[in-house]
Amino acid sequence: MNMNVILLALIFFFFMWTMCFAQNTPEDFLSVHNEAREEVGVGPLSWNHTLEAYAQRYANERIPDCNLEHSMGPYGENIAEGYGDMKGSDAVKFWLTEKPNYDYHSNSCVNDECLHYTQIVWRDSVHVGCARAKCNNHWEFVIYSYDPPGNIEGQRLVIVGHVAYAQDSQQDYLDAHDAARSEVGVPNLSWDDTVAAYAQNYANQRKGDCQLVHSGGQYGENLAWSSGDLSGTAAVQLWVDEKQYYDYNSNSCASGQVCGHYTQVVWRNSVRLGCAKVTCDNNAGTFIICSYDPAGLVIVGHVAYAQDSQQDYLDAHNAARSEVGVPNLSWDDTVAAYAQNYANQRKGDCQLVHSNGQYGENIAGGSGDFSGTVAVKLWVDEKQYYDYNSNSCASGQVCGHYTQVIWRDSIRLGCAKVTCDNNAGTFIICSYDPPGNIIGQKPY
Ligand SMILES: *[C@@H]1O[C@H](CO)[C@@H](O)[C@H](O)[C@H]1NC(C)=O
Ligand SMILES: *[C@@H]1O[C@H](CO)[C@@H](O)[C@H](O)[C@H]1NC(C)=O
Ligand SMILES: *[C@@H]1O[C@H](CO)[C@@H](O)[C@H](O)[C@H]1NC(C)=O
Repeated sequence: MNMNVILLALIFFFFMWTMCFAQNTPEDFLSVHNEAREEVGVGPLSWNHTLEAYAQRYANERIPDCNLEHSMGPYGENIAEGYGDMKGSDAVKFWLTEKPNYDYHSNSCVNDECLHYTQIVWRDSVHVGCARAKCNNHWEFVIYSYDPPGNIEGQRLVIVGHVAYAQDSQQDYLDAHDAARSEVGVPNLSWDDTVAAYAQNYANQRKGDCQLVHSGGQYGENLAWSSGDLSGTAAVQLWVDEKQYYDYNSNSCASGQVCGHYTQVVWRNSVRLGCAKVTCDNNAGTFIICSYDPAGLVIVGHVAYAQDSQQDYLDAHNAARSEVGVPNLSWDDTVAAYAQNYANQRKGDCQLVHSNGQYGENIAGGSGDFSGTVAVKLWVDEKQYYDYNSNSCASGQVCGHYTQVIWRDSIRLGCAKVTCDNNAGTFIICSYDPPGNIIGQKPY
């Protein structure tokens, strides 16, 4: 979605304006912009007559009222008005004072406005044009137009509304949870430093690989990952969005869906919350964890059992294999017995640790109940990160579960699932014979 800057706050310049453009060449406006851009390593803007003409047409429209209203046109836009003697570049200098309000890390404005500033330094904006007009009330209206427009949602230097706080504060996490809890009549959570320290410690451990792997600790736990920056509020929203899949009467998730994050968010007996966020190494994204004390119990989705049959595991694998023209797997009781034996060994701790046996192996674990079909889907979803030509995963991503699923020479499959002790979640293992992921070979 294309979000042009919409700023309606009045900016008054109590300077004397004189002939803006008579005294200030485009080079003057440009140099103020381009010095600010250079400071943050962004290339220069160039003057553009198309934009200048657009800006002038709009400035003329404002002559009767001088209202600080945006043109709602196709370009990025900063506008100001003032009274008195002011150089054209003064508006730009004023907007540059917003720089301290911009927090690059969270990509948001803090304390006050910063959207004029972010438009000025927006990397993809390369053309600029400026115009002014003297309004009937003797004020001056000035407009800068930028193309391509900046402040695009979802990109670096995005800000949606100047109220955007970092949204990673304790209160942000609490508010996002408590809003969902109050909807279903469950009391608010409170922040707990011990729980938060646990979350932070585990987030730090995941900083290196950013894997969505549970800590296996004593608290309830929701995890989220994003390839870019993700705010705490947005992570909680992802979990709360699962509400649509949760059926209270049967206490289960809709077929093939996950809703256990949501049920942890609104779990009545969980009363203490602690969350943490880390930016992963090598630009591998953002990892967010919320820990809950006491832990919510697992949702036993009764639909899930239907999806744990031999045929369910086979179908989920074979659908992915047929997409790339690899023959179907068949179920093998010996391989399945191996998987079941190892799953039983992990029942006590539910750790995602490989068996190091003679078969290829994919494992999945998580709090709550999830079906074999969901586990295979998690693995198959890695397909997006696998590049066949280079036979490698995208930087910072895992795709080895997927390549095992579709490994041509693996022809026999056996899978098993256990519910771990102490409500520690679900452990699922699929074993493959012969094993795949042979280094130096392509899967198919
Ligand atoms: C001026 O900006 C317009 C709109 O971005 C663009 O189409 C045009 O090519 C630019 N002109 C020059 C000379 O760069
Ligand atoms: C619960 O939390 C919500 C959102 O943070 C807040 O508006 C509300 O006042 C809180 N209720 C109580 C009883 O503290
Ligand atoms: C392969 O498996 C898929 C999914 O289980 C099934 O629809 C298809 O008929 C199978 N193909 C063959 C040749 O058995």
